[in-house]
Amino acid sequence: MTTPCPESGSTAFHRGHPGAVGAGEVWCEGVRLTELVDRFGTPLYVYSGAAIDDRAARLRAAFGEDAVICYAVKANSNLSLLRRLAAQGLGFDLVSGGEIERLAAANLSAAQGVFAGVGKEPWEIEAAVAAGILFFNVESEHELPLLAAAARATGRTIPVALRLNPNVAAGTHAYITTGKSENKFGIALARAAEVVRAIVDEPGLELRGYHVHLGSQLRSVQPYVDALDRVAAFADADPRHRDGVTHYDLGGGFGISYGEGLELDVAAVAEQLLPRLEDRGWTPVLEPGRYLVGDAGVLVTRVLGGKQQGGTEFVLVDAAMNDLLRPALYQADHPIAPVAPARAGPSRRVDVVGPVCETGDFLARGRELPPLAAGDLLAVFGAGAYGASMASNYNSRRRPAEVLVDGGTARLIRRRESFTQLFQNEVDLDED
Ligand code: LLP
Repeated sequence: MTTPCPESGSTAFHRGHPGAVGAGEVWCEGVRLTELVDRFGTPLYVYSGAAIDDRAARLRAAFGEDAVICYAVKANSNLSLLRRLAAQGLGFDLVSGGEIERLAAANLSAAQGVFAGVGKEPWEIEAAVAAGILFFNVESEHELPLLAAAARATGRTIPVALRLNPNVAAGTHAYITTGKSENKFGIALARAAEVVRAIVDEPGLELRGYHVHLGSQLRSVQPYVDALDRVAAFADADPRHRDGVTHYDLGGGFGISYGEGLELDVAAVAEQLLPRLEDRGWTPVLEPGRYLVGDAGVLVTRVLGGKQQGGTEFVLVDAAMNDLLRPALYQADHPIAPVAPARAGPSRRVDVVGPVCETGDFLARGRELPPLAAGDLLAVFGAGAYGASMASNYNSRRRPAEVLVDGGTARLIRRRESFTQLFQNEVDLDED
């Protein structure tokens, strides 16, 4: 018997039962985080395979067998996680030639995949055509001649979905809102008729569907409903807007439960959208990233020390903004808790900061935490999405190791970078 960690959106993270080995400590499935730190060091990303499978199963149950569920690779592009998601029957939402290369490296098919990307280069389009993707999500008109050229070069008809910008507010952070008219994404509804005409008139292209993506970390159903209503109205306005249309890609953005608010009720989204889509004979396509892997991951970091300054108490840890950029970039409130049972004593309000030379380098600000001492381990929850995939080498720091847990087994799925790797591509002009 164990207790789920209230800080986590997944029951895969739990505290060991009193009286047993690892009592009160955070576990990932059948493995103690302390044991993983002994083996792999910190900072360390730890993912639960069961948590990923569970989210994939929930989406499938909500949206049904016919839905095309494309995991947004950018959320976490580790090859082993891509394999895990493919094994759950998922396809992929790809945004770059590099992501197509990843699929190839993992021997995975792109057939149930879509290729988006705000600025597609000709070589990427050709790579996506060669990989046999389901369709291209067209973001801008300038892509059409590029796609037409790729159709001519390959002798294939290229299936496309037009990304519409429905001007729907997503109620999320400004940096991850994408479906408002002031955002760079998609084609405004007012211009869409002209772009549809251009697609229909191009013999190498085939209009298969419409695509919207409103932003990330959405918590409410209504924006998804509003977007579909607007796209449906556009399709109804002219038969040319709907001839041959078989798919509606409702995007990703399904929110998880960190910070304020609950996770998005995906079953409610499905309940609202599926009957409308069925009426039109449109197959749903989904592009979730965070929902599938966010709650499945934690970042484990070690306390290096602390200090009191200017009325703020700082807890200095060995993970930094280069390992997890989200707090610095989006003011994201990832829950944090000690891995071991809390030390006795009153909790204090602290800033959890990393070793990088920037004031913006924090994992949390003004956070209530129990007393901590150098050497203690902290788990940063909800870090499976846009954590490792946005990590950098800033301050010449090596990107962290990553571990995938499966029941009682933990496997390294990315080695910690070596110092040699840090500068291996640099050319030292003095070294002749
Ligand atoms: N589809 C499209 C077209 C997207 O642009 C994105 C995310 C997704 C799907 C997946 O969104 P998700 O389901 O993961 O919310 N780095 C930011 C998130 C940026 C998302 C960019 N596009 C963060 O850490 O919150």
